[in-house]
Amino acid sequence: MDDLKQKYLGQIANAADEAALETIRVAAVGKKGEVALKMRELGKMTPEERQVAGPALNALKDEINSALSAKKAGLADAALDARLRDEWLDVTLPARSRSQGTIHPVSQVSEEVTAIFAEMGFSVAEGPRIDTDWYNFDALNIPGHHPARAEMDTFYMHRAEGDNRPPHVLRTHTSPVQIRSMETMGAPLRIICPGGVYRADYDQTHTPMFHQVEGLAIDKDISMAHLKWVLEEFVKAYFEVDGVDLRFRASHFPFTEPSAEVDIRCSWEGGTLKVGEGDDWLEILGSGMVHPNVLKAGGIDPEAWQGFAFGMGIDRIAMLKYGVPDLRAFFDSDLRWLRHYGFAALDQPTLHGGLSR
Ligand code: DAH
Repeated sequence: MDDLKQKYLGQIANAADEAALETIRVAAVGKKGEVALKMRELGKMTPEERQVAGPALNALKDEINSALSAKKAGLADAALDARLRDEWLDVTLPARSRSQGTIHPVSQVSEEVTAIFAEMGFSVAEGPRIDTDWYNFDALNIPGHHPARAEMDTFYMHRAEGDNRPPHVLRTHTSPVQIRSMETMGAPLRIICPGGVYRADYDQTHTPMFHQVEGLAIDKDISMAHLKWVLEEFVKAYFEVDGVDLRFRASHFPFTEPSAEVDIRCSWEGGTLKVGEGDDWLEILGSGMVHPNVLKAGGIDPEAWQGFAFGMGIDRIAMLKYGVPDLRAFFDSDLRWLRHYGFAALDQPTLHGGLSR
């Protein structure tokens, strides 16, 4: 019995893993293990012998079993220690100073605009960039013969002969999302829609694809006063200044009545733009009270509801805020330009945390 004890306790002490331990357990105290075989021999013993050998065998079995479970616990602890050592991570290390990529100014400004309007209860709506000419024009009170259609330098989608689907265009503005939002959400409504738009035009201030943000608020008693307040709040927050003069200039858009273009007071002294001071004015957007025909096209009763809308160039206000001289560079994918004008990937613009850090 002493030999058995020496043998198995020795093996257990040297076992390298749980599988080895299991093999030892079966050989020692399993149903057909050596201790069980010895137990069977008890039958052939005299009662006196049995009285000594029985308890001794049981004690041996207990001793092997507890050595097994102690070793098993020891192996598990060692495995956990090894894992903790391997997976150790110093969370107090500084973050990598600068990741490879940057956030494009158009994305950054879209996020900034979204953060500001979200605070005023506007949600973000989206629509397709390829839309029917009905959504892009007719529904916005721009009938077929209207000069605005020609002025917009529209890209029309090619149609195969015999294709009877309505004509599709690359949307020339974000205004069709007004109609889609009215259709899906009804009134009251408060949305903005940032997104890409297309016109056949190319020079220092025009690219065939650019970005706008549309705004639309519909309720029972919306007036030009609300429009003015909302835009003032926006401009102050966006340009991160305390006060700013806005100038509403009477204008004309088919989808609004009355319509106004909005300028902000600025100075160009020393060649740099300062918003909120000086004697110059800079046009930043078109706006007005939503035309009754537009409400009707969106399925909203113009006798019961009214609203304001506005449309602003995202690239344009990005150029103004961040001093980018040429619009075309926005779409060149030049890495040097992106590193210079891009934003850190982990800085989310928020009103409380700062828009442009
Ligand atoms: N859709 C116009 C454009 O692309 C901009 C615009 C003007 C949008 C007045 C509006 C608005 O919502 O009310 O030039």
